[in-house]
Amino acid sequence: MEQARVPVPPIGLTRKYPGIGTGPVPARIYHDAAFYEKEIEAIFKRSWFMIGRVDQIPDPGQFFVYELPTFGHSILICRDRNGAINGFHNVCSHRGNAVEHRDCGKTRAFVCRFHGWSYDLEGKIAAIRDEAGFFDLDRSRLGLKRVPTGIWEGFIFVSPLDEPEQSLEEYLGEQGRDLVGYPWSACTQSYQWQTEINANWKLVMDSPAEVYHIPVLHPTSAAPTMMASGNPFGRLLDVEIKGPHRTNSHYSVSAEPNPVQKLAYTNAAAAQNVVQETTEYEMPRGLNPTRSQHWSVDLVTFFPTLSFTVSAGMYTAHQVWPLGPSRSLYQQRVFVRRAGNAAERFGQENTMVEFRDVVMEDLSTLESIQRGLDAGRIEAFNYHDHELALRHQYEVVSARVAAYEREQSGAVGQAERS
Ligand code: FES
Ligand SMILES: [Fe+2]
Repeated sequence: MEQARVPVPPIGLTRKYPGIGTGPVPARIYHDAAFYEKEIEAIFKRSWFMIGRVDQIPDPGQFFVYELPTFGHSILICRDRNGAINGFHNVCSHRGNAVEHRDCGKTRAFVCRFHGWSYDLEGKIAAIRDEAGFFDLDRSRLGLKRVPTGIWEGFIFVSPLDEPEQSLEEYLGEQGRDLVGYPWSACTQSYQWQTEINANWKLVMDSPAEVYHIPVLHPTSAAPTMMASGNPFGRLLDVEIKGPHRTNSHYSVSAEPNPVQKLAYTNAAAAQNVVQETTEYEMPRGLNPTRSQHWSVDLVTFFPTLSFTVSAGMYTAHQVWPLGPSRSLYQQRVFVRRAGNAAERFGQENTMVEFRDVVMEDLSTLESIQRGLDAGRIEAFNYHDHELALRHQYEVVSARVAAYEREQSGAVGQAERS
């Protein structure tokens, strides 16, 4: 069937942000080990990280354990008897063993498997075996150490710092406020896959953050939809920059699905939606910011490394964890509602595989780029207008690290003067 032609999204996104410039961007920050160490201090330790949803632990006593790969922290999240969600370092205060070894479960107390100290759901010490043999223990100081924990739209966030510089609300800022009201909690089920890549964290963020590559790298997966009917370069509808965060708004018109897609889409359409067709919600202002009728999906990014792919009916979370200057862990978590029958499950599985394949195509270029960077063969990047997100990332990273360097030199200067 012939597609109706629609206007091609224009060039001109970068000009919306005159301060961001148009020149080549230095590539050093993608492989310099000293710069990477500063990024951890200046950026990652000062951010909040989404580690799950409240729906994972609906009942008192339910818990899950989550590793923060960049920091080596094991975090224990549980719901207490009052229904509050608590975050603790998963470290026993006797001699440091992990207090909970299971990934998730339900319990009345956390009992360390080394010497049997136990803690209640508020993290307070509950029992110390043979307590008479210890010397002047102060029980009030022996509870599990709390991790700053916050909740936004049902997502649980933690801070790697004991005393975060910003509240979660401040960190999420305008980007967070503009996404309130999307039916995030309609998806009670999720699955996650992950892979380690020999590439800097920013490279991993870059791949899905631009569409200039869509027709070339994704000729049979994403391109047929994004390029259909008059968008031969797969251009974006818009890029909205909000402080350190940003949203890429994607254009598409439906292309002719292949036979498997047709079966999945037509027999199981409802299962792919976070909302039933009968459920209505008002699209938050942060999604489809241009209110285009050709909108398909937004890539909503919370700096530095959390992104959501959000459409009218479903969403996926992407998280990149830096492991070194040239190594990262990528995680993709797809949120769906419970399938009502086998056909719906088939539709969900099909979508999951489609998502995974597009991301795997994205990741396929990264290790060779990193080798070129590590060998010093790439000195600067020239970004297309629709690669604006990468230019913005460079701006934010550079500014944060420069501010950190000033802070450090100020602290050194102060120490020398005193
Ligand atoms: S380390 Fe946990 S009880 Fe000893
Ligand atoms: Fe891509």
